[in-house]
Amino acid sequence: MSMESLLQVENLSVSVEDMQILKGLNLNVKEGETHVLMGPNGAGKSTLGNTLMGNPGYKVTDGRILFDGQDITGLSTDKRAAAGMFMSFQNPLEVPGISLSAFIRSAIHAQTGKPIKLLAYKKLLESTMEILNMDPSYADRDLNVGFSGGEKKKAEILQLLMLSPKLAILDETDSGLDVDAVRTVSRGIEEYQKRENGALIIITHSTRILESLHVDHTHVIVKGRLVASGDGSLVDEINEHGFEKYTLVD
Ligand SMILES: Nc1ncnc2c1ncn2[C@@H]1O[C@H](COP(=O)(O)OP(=O)(O)OP(=O)(O)O)[C@@H](O)[C@H]1O
Ligand SMILES: [Mg+2]
Repeated sequence: MSMESLLQVENLSVSVEDMQILKGLNLNVKEGETHVLMGPNGAGKSTLGNTLMGNPGYKVTDGRILFDGQDITGLSTDKRAAAGMFMSFQNPLEVPGISLSAFIRSAIHAQTGKPIKLLAYKKLLESTMEILNMDPSYADRDLNVGFSGGEKKKAEILQLLMLSPKLAILDETDSGLDVDAVRTVSRGIEEYQKRENGALIIITHSTRILESLHVDHTHVIVKGRLVASGDGSLVDEINEHGFEKYTLVD
């Protein structure tokens, strides 16, 4: 495994609508590593993901973000995606008027800068949907429109596998999935880990999705601060004892 640093978050402070949410956060993700982010509801996990992706609602008030050797703190979301960043959202948006297939195809185009031939694309899409036990007919349905919660999450993992980013941030991709879907989705994530040596930041409240995945580092965020880091075993410890010992008095 390469020891190249892929993502460096340095002393990051972020505010949303003049509320300070993240406070001096540091995080270092190397190529191919899998990091798990845990923390109580409202701690700032999704805020970190949104900030890393350049969501304009999140204002960096201090610190910086380096990705692949480049300072991306001021970069647009599109440019970050083109640089190889991807985020699967806690609540995927419904997009009427654009099919799942067309959406992913244009995302690949935007990321690589060149169009992908339709026939080759369709083949790749079909085989990738098969890995995820998705019915091929979903490719022609409007993106996420009328998709069930679990189907939306699978569609996110489909995008992950089709786009093969350098870094993927998965925000509660496992929430609301039935037992079989959890297995299918973790198989998809595993495929990404293996195939692309891709780096992952997995935000989760459950350990089900982590059972079959290799985890390098676990971090705990409480009230916008990173309060603990450890290896994969920290996940089990939190599962057993909760976040009480990490709760700060501020
Ligand atoms: N767009 C926004 N507008 C207003 N407040 C926001 C916004 N985004 C985040 N916040 C606030 O920032 C805090 C952190 O929210 P965030 O969504 O990052 O938490 P989280 O750790 O992902 O929690 P959960 O586990 O419930 O998903 C919360 O108090 C939330 O209300
Ligand atoms: Mg969240």
